[in-house]
Amino acid sequence: MTGRAGPPVALTIAGSDSGAGAGIQADLKAMSALGVLATTAVTAVTAQNTAEVVAVHPVPAELVDAQIAAVLADLPVAATKTGLLVSAATIDVVGRRAAAGQLPSLVVDPVMVASTGRTLLDEEGLEAYRRRLLPHALLVTPNLVEAALLAGTEPGRAADPEAMAELGRRVADLGPAWVLVKGGHLPGVHEGGRHAARRVVDVLVHEGRADVLEADLVVTVNNHGTGCTLSAATAALLASGDDVPTAVTGARRFVHRALAGAAGWHLGRGHGPLDPFGWSHPR
Ligand SMILES: Nc1ncnc2c1ncn2[C@@H]1O[C@H](COP(=O)(O)OP(=O)(O)OP(=O)(O)O)[C@@H](O)[C@H]1O
Ligand SMILES: [Mg+2]
Repeated sequence: MTGRAGPPVALTIAGSDSGAGAGIQADLKAMSALGVLATTAVTAVTAQNTAEVVAVHPVPAELVDAQIAAVLADLPVAATKTGLLVSAATIDVVGRRAAAGQLPSLVVDPVMVASTGRTLLDEEGLEAYRRRLLPHALLVTPNLVEAALLAGTEPGRAADPEAMAELGRRVADLGPAWVLVKGGHLPGVHEGGRHAARRVVDVLVHEGRADVLEADLVVTVNNHGTGCTLSAATAALLASGDDVPTAVTGARRFVHRALAGAAGWHLGRGHGPLDPFGWSHPR
């Protein structure tokens, strides 16, 4: 992949996770594992581990913008992803860069709700996503709760593929070319108990058409950063020249292997990290 001109370059605009399972650290790992040089704009510093988020300190929006500008001024960024954007002001600066055509192949992972259920964004931030950022996204990757919030419908309802497709179409009405509604956090999915689903379903929507993408459930508590890893891997594959469906398919396979590889790990008291480098799958 590394030609004479160097590897493809991607940019992640996201928060730091001190436990390194999610956020900028997950993005760096996923992009690196896929042979893509990851550049970064940090939006917040969080103190967290596998079990809890202890503190979140936002980086001023102007400093987020300065990081983006410094990277863009010097490096050939071919794809971008956003993760935690903390505030309407931060969403605004990213939206302005996107509107100016400076963020190619923009993947927006609209992080709004922590796995604990805690809301990470206020109403103004939600509106900023809807009006200022999503219209410029190539792909947006909400989980079910985030898709419902963006679509303005009741959140938290368990969904079947048809309902997910309908949600995806409503999010697509906000302007992104493609929408991937993720079903990894369906009720029961991670418990692995008698009633747990055996399959996980994501739905990819484009121009009204919906493709149901299924995978075998990986039964594990080590699922910290699946969403970050998925969007980072997608941006990396877009930077490498894949089209959207190919990148999404490759990224889902990448997440699946990373989940399966770490399924037997015992790291931390809570939701442990993934295995993006395939350490558990020696060739
Ligand atoms: N246990 C699992 N087994 C197989 N695939 C999974 C599992 N959990 C999540 N996935 C997949 O991982 C990707 C991320 O989906 P998920 O719904 O977990 O996103 P998310 O809610 O944004 O995650 P995060 O909590 O990291 O923000 C999707 O492609 C989903 O299908
Ligand atoms: Mg997420």
